[in-house]
Amino acid sequence: MALCLQNSPNFEILRDYLRSNAFNESSICGLLGIDRLDDLIPSQYSPAKESISSGPLRHLTRLFLLGESFPRAELESGLSAPVVKALEGLGLASLDSGSDTRLFCPVALYPFGPLYIVSDRWLAPAGSGLKFPEDFVYPAISPNTWEFIDMLPVTPCDSFLELCSGTGAVALAAAAYARKAWAIDITARATHMAEFNRLLNGLNNVTVLKGDLFEGAENLEFDRIVAHPPYMPVLHPDKIFYDGGADGEQITRRIIAGLPNYLKPGGCFYCLAQASDRKGALLEDRVRGWLGEGQADFDVAILELLVQEPKDAAFRYALQSRKGFETVNLMRENLARLGVESIAYGWIIVQRKDNGRKAFTVRRAGGRRTGREEIAWLLKWETFAAGPSAFDDLLGTTPCARDSLELRTIHKMKDGELVPEQLALHAENPFAMDCRVDPWVAFLIPLCDGKTTVRRLWEKCKAHNFIHAETSPEEFAKFVGVLISGGFLAVAEYLPPDSP
Ligand SMILES: C[S@@+](CC[C@H](N)C(=O)[O-])C[C@H]1O[C@@H](n2cnc3c(N)ncnc32)[C@H](O)[C@@H]1O
Repeated sequence: MALCLQNSPNFEILRDYLRSNAFNESSICGLLGIDRLDDLIPSQYSPAKESISSGPLRHLTRLFLLGESFPRAELESGLSAPVVKALEGLGLASLDSGSDTRLFCPVALYPFGPLYIVSDRWLAPAGSGLKFPEDFVYPAISPNTWEFIDMLPVTPCDSFLELCSGTGAVALAAAAYARKAWAIDITARATHMAEFNRLLNGLNNVTVLKGDLFEGAENLEFDRIVAHPPYMPVLHPDKIFYDGGADGEQITRRIIAGLPNYLKPGGCFYCLAQASDRKGALLEDRVRGWLGEGQADFDVAILELLVQEPKDAAFRYALQSRKGFETVNLMRENLARLGVESIAYGWIIVQRKDNGRKAFTVRRAGGRRTGREEIAWLLKWETFAAGPSAFDDLLGTTPCARDSLELRTIHKMKDGELVPEQLALHAENPFAMDCRVDPWVAFLIPLCDGKTTVRRLWEKCKAHNFIHAETSPEEFAKFVGVLISGGFLAVAEYLPPDSP
């Protein structure tokens, strides 16, 4: 790959040119008639050429996103000769194979929020003879990368590390709120593109390193570590960005095992990946085990966004690897041998405690609006609830029932009749939660009016014999804590994001 890795005025020339010609997501999507740039991946998109034939934005889009090649004279008249010269100097325009006059761009280049990012193409440029290499550099406009960056916190932090960084786009975006950011990837190709991206965006507070996970960062500690690693279970290695070993967890497990050496007290690790519940071992407990001897210093939170059965994962693998039906059975056998019962796609979050409180382990399912604010709320609430005096403190608060709460009655057939058998609270925000409750909770919830303290609620529940006479205020407060944690009740100090 011949991308320029020297500081050069050409970077600024290109940056200014892209900015002044509205090379941004909304203009490009408007031009191509798509909603989001990731609609181009995997691409069946083939624009009517005449509809995007002239003007700098059109040439930039065709060259960088659609991978078209142009006769030099046409490109120079579309973008100007000095800009084409700058592109050649940066390695972004070279002769298409089999032609001594047509220029093409060997990588894809696109806006990523306020940044410009290059990666491998999801399409081989026409006539270029390019093939997807084993060390294919994962495009930052993939839906999964969007999901990754959209849910990461953007609050200020001191030292930020992105592992498995690919194009480095997420670490480069973090440069806006981190004092210093690092991006580490194992392939030379990804590291090369990430360093190019750093220079293209003129960022001086990001370091790009080539290494296996934490390699190169041995003497550093971070207050935020993020990863979107390869996590697909595979039978045979094929693509480095994709292969997570036989169970899909090989890279994720090694990252988590390394956290005790690299995460500062109070620091947090966010990983978007897939991992499994096994026979007799829930995912959250397995993650805790990967932390090793020091696990009591860490909190573990799982946010599942999608849960698959092993047979569905096996079908998906066979489809994506374009292998036959036999592969489905081989993958099913492989997952069964490992004791995989279900596979969750979502977030693994690990927080290092910064005081002597208990560690917590929680698992939630994403609701319709679950995003970064909800994750931040979960960590804040659970951190409080794990504190030594949490339930004492809670007794003085005045919980309020949340508007979005639902109480559902589960009916079951009995002697030919449907009879109400169980009550369950249901919430969609901040997480999708169902919690079976005893009937007296239907009386408690309306008493939670935002004015009555938990202690007073305890007194009222006792007076009505809703709770056992022996129930202590702390036990009652713990139960109220469970209802707050589930998103059914809210207290002013810990309001979930969409609370009035
Ligand atoms: C799914 S891609 C994600 C890229 C980028 N973080 C993103 O979200 O667009 C996974 C990346 O992990 C890198 N990778 C795989 N094994 C690694 C390892 N042992 N150490 C560091 N990086 C690794 C791959 O080269 C690839 O760039």
